[in-house]
Amino acid sequence: MKYLVANWKAHKSVEETGQWWNIFSQKYQAKENLQIIIAPSFSHLSLVKNLMRGVKNISLAAQDLSQFNEGDYTGEVTAKALQGLVEYVILGHSERRQYFAETNQTIAKKVELAHIYELKTILCLRGNEDVLISGVEMVAYEPVGAIGTGNNQPLNKVLEFKQTLSLGDSKFLYGGSVNDANLSDYLQTEQIDGLLVGGASLNPEQFLRIIAAV
Ligand code: PGA
Repeated sequence: MKYLVANWKAHKSVEETGQWWNIFSQKYQAKENLQIIIAPSFSHLSLVKNLMRGVKNISLAAQDLSQFNEGDYTGEVTAKALQGLVEYVILGHSERRQYFAETNQTIAKKVELAHIYELKTILCLRGNEDVLISGVEMVAYEPVGAIGTGNNQPLNKVLEFKQTLSLGDSKFLYGGSVNDANLSDYLQTEQIDGLLVGGASLNPEQFLRIIAAV
């Protein structure tokens, strides 16, 4: 099974989310060996969950969760709040580390809470400066220079980084400027279980082309 994670980041209104789905669902055909994971904003999770009901090989992810358990933390979205709503959660994305001062320590707390509430974790690592937390379901290698730049990291460099990790049972994903033209570089090898796609997942036609290219 290969995995394609669509990370929408802080894009899309409610209306745009519905439009994306309308276009996507008209042409989407499930592939036996491909699991799609869509990660919209917290505010659109229920909407997308309802839209994807009954559609094969698509599941939902949150892009983050609170480092705190349930309690008086105004504005936070906890693992408990996400239980039953999403299957996966992306943790430690480089943008969270950069703009929201997330540390390996806070990310470790989030992983722990996610697992208490039975959420599968996709841990993003920028490189060896970030700590691999054991027990995560997936590790997504996302070198900063490759994110949103068009400079996807060549396969040999990605595999070089993978060699440095003690992955245990965690699956290994790559992310950073993945599109329909370069995706086959990564998925041709058994060594890479999937891809995290940002910009190229925002347009449903483009995302469908990516699926077609798998
Ligand atoms: P990108 O983003 O595909 O736009 O480079 C990937 C990511 O940050 O998850």
